Amino acid sequence: MTAASIVFDRAGLRFGGEAIYDDLSFSVGKGEFVCLLGPSGCGKSTSLRLIGDLLTAQSGSVTVDGKPPAQAWQDVAFVFQSPRLAPWRNALANVLLGAELRLGRDEARRREPRARELLAMVGLADAAHKYPSMLSGGERQRVAIARALAVDPSIVLMDEPFSALDPNTRRRLRAEIERIWQQTGRTVLFVTHDIEEAIVLADRIVLLSNKPTRVLESIAVPAPRPRRLSGNPALEALRDRLQNLFQSLENTEPEEPSS
Ligand SMILES: Nc1ncnc2c1ncn2[C@@H]1O[C@H](COP(=O)(O)OP(=O)(O)OP(=O)(O)O)[C@@H](O)[C@H]1O
Ligand SMILES: [Mg+2]
Repeated sequence: MTAASIVFDRAGLRFGGEAIYDDLSFSVGKGEFVCLLGPSGCGKSTSLRLIGDLLTAQSGSVTVDGKPPAQAWQDVAFVFQSPRLAPWRNALANVLLGAELRLGRDEARRREPRARELLAMVGLADAAHKYPSMLSGGERQRVAIARALAVDPSIVLMDEPFSALDPNTRRRLRAEIERIWQQTGRTVLFVTHDIEEAIVLADRIVLLSNKPTRVLESIAVPAPRPRRLSGNPALEALRDRLQNLFQSLENTEPEEPSS
């Protein structure tokens, strides 16, 4: 068992009167690729915000490399569903933006060769000078991935990063993120609605329940990479099982709180 990178230990969080979690526990090992899967509104994005210190658990704890998130934010980078690029900066300047904000302009300038390397890694070596309006949706998302990696995070949090893209681009970026993960050894926590995406990418899938959210199952996916579902009976069976579980979650009305 590798050391834990992210640990939710009996975490509780309420918004107004509503308990999102009252007892959420799971962990992500160093260098592990974990997909968080769960019904809409169960608190997947919220859990990333807890890790990134954008929110604080009200009970239990969330720790990042053994520290409270407030002391670990420098180890953490985000990739969101939409790329959130600055339109007045070209691709290279966007990749450097995170480093500039965190570490200052001088350090960002020193990181320019690294930023170019990262652009090459995501297949955009020739697009460094292009502005976001000149890039496709998939290319913009790749810039966002390069930007996340440019701050040298040990942990990358991804919140449905490919869900706005067409299926082909999605497939390509999945393969790319898998390759980058293998090359860089980062810890990745990846939120998705897409069961097949989770099966293709994850070392382990953490399946969440409806609110108040708990872990229903933690499923290791030991298949070699790169993975294809079709023609792989074990992975197809896992997909079918997860689809059934998911359907039953989405058909379950949340329980009325007992008074
Ligand atoms: N700032 C907030 N104030 C009040 N309620 C909030 C706030 N942020 C999130 N919530 C509620 O917390 C719950 C979890 O939200 P969250 O965005 O984490 O869900 P999710 O699992 O990411 O859903 P989806 O799959 O639709 O993205 C939802 O019921 C949401 O309405
Ligand atoms: Mg979400």
